[in-house]
Amino acid sequence: MEHFKNQMVVEFDSISKNESFARVVVAAFVSRLNPTLEEIADIKTAVSEAVTNSIIHGYENRDGRIRIETYIVEDTVTVIIKDYGIGIADIDKAMEPMYTSKPELERSGMGFAFMEAFMDELFVESAVGQGTTVTMRKVIKQERKMTEEYYAMGQKNKAKEENQNRK
Ligand SMILES: Nc1ncnc2c1ncn2[C@@H]1O[C@H](COP(=O)(O)OP(=O)(O)OP(=O)(O)O)[C@@H](O)[C@H]1O
Ligand SMILES: [Mg+2]
Repeated sequence: MEHFKNQMVVEFDSISKNESFARVVVAAFVSRLNPTLEEIADIKTAVSEAVTNSIIHGYENRDGRIRIETYIVEDTVTVIIKDYGIGIADIDKAMEPMYTSKPELERSGMGFAFMEAFMDELFVESAVGQGTTVTMRKVIKQERKMTEEYYAMGQKNKAKEENQNRK
C-alpha cells in the first residue's frame, strides 16, 4: 500500500478571533481522511482549547504568534500548537483536571482534560519565558468506516436481489 502523508503549517496572530479560524483550518485539512462528524468535532474542540490557552495564558492577551503544524501519516493526525509566551512552570499541576491559574476569569481548568479526552495522545512541553508546545494525536479509524461501508453495500445488494426476485 502507498505510504500516505501530508503536512500543513499555519501561523497567525494571538487574538481570540483566530480561535475559530484555527479549528476550521485544521478540520478542513483533516477532512481528506473522511473523519466522522464526531471525530471532526473532537479535533476542533481540542484545537480550540489549545489555541485559547496560548492566547489567554501564554500571551495573557498581549501580542504574539501562534503556529500550528498538522501532519497526516496514513490514518493518524498529529496537531502541534506552539506559542512563544510565558510558558508553564509545573506542567503536571497545569494538566490536573480543574486546575486553573486564572479562577478570577472563571476558567474551569478543564482545557487539558478535554484535549486528553478527545484525542488519543497529548504531550505538553514548556519552558518558562520561552513558550509552550502542545502535541496531540488522533487515529481516524478507517477500518471501522470500511466495515460500515461494506455493510451498507451488502444491505443495498440484498435489497436489489430481493427486488429482482419479486419480478
Ligand atoms: N499555552 C499556555 N501558556 C501558559 N500557561 C498555560 C498554557 N496552557 C495552559 N496553561 C496553564 O495551564 C492551566 C490549565 O489549563 P487548562 O486549559 O486545563 O485550564 P484553563 O485554561 O485554566 O481553564 P479552561 O480551559 O477550562 O477555560 C492554565 O490555567 C494555565 O495556568
Ligand atoms: Mg484552557
